[in-house]
Amino acid sequence: MSDKATLEYNGQKYEFPIIKGSEDELAVNIKTLRGVSGGLITIDPGYKNTGSCESAITFLDGEKGVLRYRGYSIEELAEKADFLEVAYLLIFGELPNKEQLEAFHVDIKNESHVDEEMKKILDAFPKSAHPMGVLSSLTSALIAFNPVSVNVTSNAEMYGAIVRILAKFPVLVAWTLRKKKGFPLDYGDDSLGYVENIHKMMFKKPSQEYKKNKQVIDALDQLLILHADHEQNCSTSTVRIVGSSHAGLFASLSAGISALWGPLHGGANQAVIEMLEAIEADGGDTKKYMAKAKDKNDPFRLMGFGHRVYKNFDPRAKIIKKAADKVLEDLGIDDPILEIAKGLEKEALEDQYFVDRKLYPNVDFYSGIIYRALGIPTEMFTVMFALGRLPGWIAQWREMRLNNEPIGRPRQIYTGANQRPFVNLDKR
Ligand code: ACO
Repeated sequence: MSDKATLEYNGQKYEFPIIKGSEDELAVNIKTLRGVSGGLITIDPGYKNTGSCESAITFLDGEKGVLRYRGYSIEELAEKADFLEVAYLLIFGELPNKEQLEAFHVDIKNESHVDEEMKKILDAFPKSAHPMGVLSSLTSALIAFNPVSVNVTSNAEMYGAIVRILAKFPVLVAWTLRKKKGFPLDYGDDSLGYVENIHKMMFKKPSQEYKKNKQVIDALDQLLILHADHEQNCSTSTVRIVGSSHAGLFASLSAGISALWGPLHGGANQAVIEMLEAIEADGGDTKKYMAKAKDKNDPFRLMGFGHRVYKNFDPRAKIIKKAADKVLEDLGIDDPILEIAKGLEKEALEDQYFVDRKLYPNVDFYSGIIYRALGIPTEMFTVMFALGRLPGWIAQWREMRLNNEPIGRPRQIYTGANQRPFVNLDKR
């Protein structure tokens, strides 16, 4: 196999090296293209064919439906590891041993306080504010209360920043929910596990003791693992590109949260439930909505279907579907929208339009059903996604800074007006 690719343009040939990844993926390295060709650039809207970096964190093969964090399959991790172990693995590259995991958890607990002044910022938001906007703002506001800029060449400083955000972010998530519910803002309990503590912070009622529900905690833990990283998706690329200007970790994460918010990305889990509720309210006619999804004159899309990278199945969707069935059974919930979801899935998998375009249920098709069963309000679903994605964003930001990547600055092909003389206001 050739280790070079040749581009021919205007009678000139230019050679570019081929880069090979550890799973044999190939890329043409066009780093020198513009310089050697006298100005040629490539254009690739949506970056469908463009690799922005080399990364050792997550591998996915969209054709085969493979997803691995640091070499471990998502199926094994979802079954055998807990979220904090996965966070450590993603960020530092190896599974922690018992002592490392314990020390990591202790360090996180020691940073779990959020400055009381932050409550005033939260207070200023109307209750109707979307939780993703609130979370992004609060994450950004954290910088003001932790103003030390991180020297990324210092392991200790890097570790400190990572532990701080892993500790404080769940408090912000819980406060965002509690504000929405009108509950008093609360802190966690250091005697609890990381995810159990998050659950307690979110749901403990002011006048009741918190009671652990193992099935709920396990389901939540698994959902967070499934969302923990997904290589260079929209929000992760945002985190990396913001961080590439040497903006700090918290600022980069705040931008990532905004990117995740959109319904074509993390916001899809909220959009899925709203779509299923709308279909139910409209009489439950799934065929009508299938027809709408296929009609090119109708902007309606079947939310939770399709993926930029997975073109056969989303391995996370398989795990989540099983988990959704189990959670609903364990909690004794009979949710009519689950039937609508199953109906839509069956029809779409047999429909030529969806088959031809390789549109399969993605991770968000079923995650919303579990979140709903766990009592999480629909508007909070994407916040839960952000909570799960946090370790992935941190790992990607850390990798980008440690690799000393250059500032992200794409080029463009200008299609606007050519130079023209200015026309004074009285002449226009
Ligand atoms: N319903 C109906 N048609 C669809 C859908 C859908 N959900 N998704 C894609 N298509 C069609 C498009 O109309 C297009 O048809 P055409 O070739 O006839 O023009 C074709 O399939 C390809 O679609 P693109 O939008 O070009 O595919 P792309 O890879 O750019 O988009 C995306 C992927 C954004 C996920 C898209 O499938 C979508 O909008 N899905 C619904 C939203 C969703 O579930 N997002 C969550 C993604 S997972 C995540 O972020 C965690």
